[in-house]
Amino acid sequence: MMENNSKLAENIVDRVLASKEEIQKAVARIGAEITRDYEGKELFVIGVLKGGFMFMADLVREIQIPLQMDFIAVSSYGSSTKTSGVVRLIKDIDKPLDGKHLLIVEDIIDSGVTLKYLKEMFATRGPLSIRVCTIFDKPSRRKVEMQGDYVGIEIPDEFVIGYGLDYDGKYRNLPDLCVLRRDVYEKE
Ligand code: PRP
Repeated sequence: MMENNSKLAENIVDRVLASKEEIQKAVARIGAEITRDYEGKELFVIGVLKGGFMFMADLVREIQIPLQMDFIAVSSYGSSTKTSGVVRLIKDIDKPLDGKHLLIVEDIIDSGVTLKYLKEMFATRGPLSIRVCTIFDKPSRRKVEMQGDYVGIEIPDEFVIGYGLDYDGKYRNLPDLCVLRRDVYEKE
C-alpha cells in the first residue's frame, strides 16, 4: 500500500521502501562515522551526479569537520556501455587529489561497475586513500566485487525511485525511496 500520500507519488508509487525519516537517520549515522574516521585529515568528498546530489547535500551537513567537495558525472544507467562494464565520464573534477583522502558519494551501488571504474580512475591520481559511501545498496545485483565503506540502507532488487533516483529522468525529488509501480514501466 502507498503510505506516501504526496501529490507526486500519486499513481506511480507502489510502496515506500525507506521513508525520509529512516533515510535521515541513516545519513546522520554515516555522517557521525565519517566525522570520527577523518578527524584531522584532509577530506575531499566527491558526489556522483546526478543521483548522488541529494544524499551529498544531506551528508555533508552531518559531517562535522572541514572538507572540500566537488561533483563528477558518469554515463547514464541502462546504456549498453554500462552493462559491458565501460563507464563514460561526462564531467570530471579539476583539482589535484594528491595529499587528499577521497570519499566518493553515491546514491546506490547496483552492479558495482560505476564505482569500480571511479575507484580505479581516482587511484591513478595519487590520493592518500579512497573510500566509498552510498545511501542505498542492492548487493543482490553485483556483477563486480564492490563493497561500500559506509552504507546506509540495504534494499531488495526492486525498481526504486526518489531521494535522487529516477525513472526516465523524473521523480528524483520524491523525499522517500519508493518502489515504482510495475504498470508504469511495463506499459512502454
Ligand atoms: C546510477 C547510480 C550509480 C550507478 C549505480 O546512476 O547513481 O551511479 O547507477 O549502478 P552500478 O552499480 O550498476 O554501476 P545512473 O547511471 O542511473 O545515472 P544518474 O545518477 O545520472 O541517474
